[in-house]
Amino acid sequence: MNIINLDKVNSTNLYAKENLEKFSDKSVISADIQTNGRGRFNRNWVDMGEGNLFMSIVLKPSSVFSPVYANLTQYLSVILCRIFEEYGLEPEIKWPNDVLIDGKKISGILCETVIQNGSLNGLILGVGVNLNADKDKLSLVSDKPVTALNLELFREYEDKHLFTEKLLNEFFKHYDSFLMNGFIMIKDEYLQRCSFIGKKIKVKLYDKTITAVAMRLTDSGELILKDSEKEVALSAGDII
Ligand code: BTN
Repeated sequence: MNIINLDKVNSTNLYAKENLEKFSDKSVISADIQTNGRGRFNRNWVDMGEGNLFMSIVLKPSSVFSPVYANLTQYLSVILCRIFEEYGLEPEIKWPNDVLIDGKKISGILCETVIQNGSLNGLILGVGVNLNADKDKLSLVSDKPVTALNLELFREYEDKHLFTEKLLNEFFKHYDSFLMNGFIMIKDEYLQRCSFIGKKIKVKLYDKTITAVAMRLTDSGELILKDSEKEVALSAGDII
């Protein structure tokens, strides 16, 4: 594994994308400061100061896109949950890949695909984890409740190096097997951490909002919603 540490960057995902040909499979780009972090659906990811994790994993599994690559964000959300549990916390997954503690978002994942002339050049799996934040910095994120590991553990400072090491080790330990087996490999573990199944939820997809009951997940990680007797399968969206 090749780890590149940058002092400051606009976005580790953007940096990885712009320099993709320079990076081999399984390279990791991490930054101390991220000035323009990108989130899903064109949102931004706020840097809450020193000691937070901003990282992009460059993956080049093949030159042909496989549907299992779209599940890597769900795989990474389960890995994050396992680590938060090691710290004694009870994380929850908000489909498809947000991790929450006590209803507050602690990490976000953004996977970007680079395809050129029909060939897959690579995947950039970006992850941001709030490891260290002052309580007053939480209000920098205004659209949802957020938290940070140090606040949940009532500690002054969380060790970013240790957390990153745990995350990468755990991610790559089962990565090859995940690519072979797909979402079904983690489905039970994923579901154990989901509290929205069986509930009436609102899902936003671009400018559309669907209110329906979350029925189940398919073996490929899609969310099945039921709205007045009609079932729909979603592969993207945001529970709001
Ligand atoms: C989301 O929850 O909307 C996804 C947020 C992803 C943020 C991470 S931070 C590291 C990487 N670089 C980025 O610009 N975004 C991802």
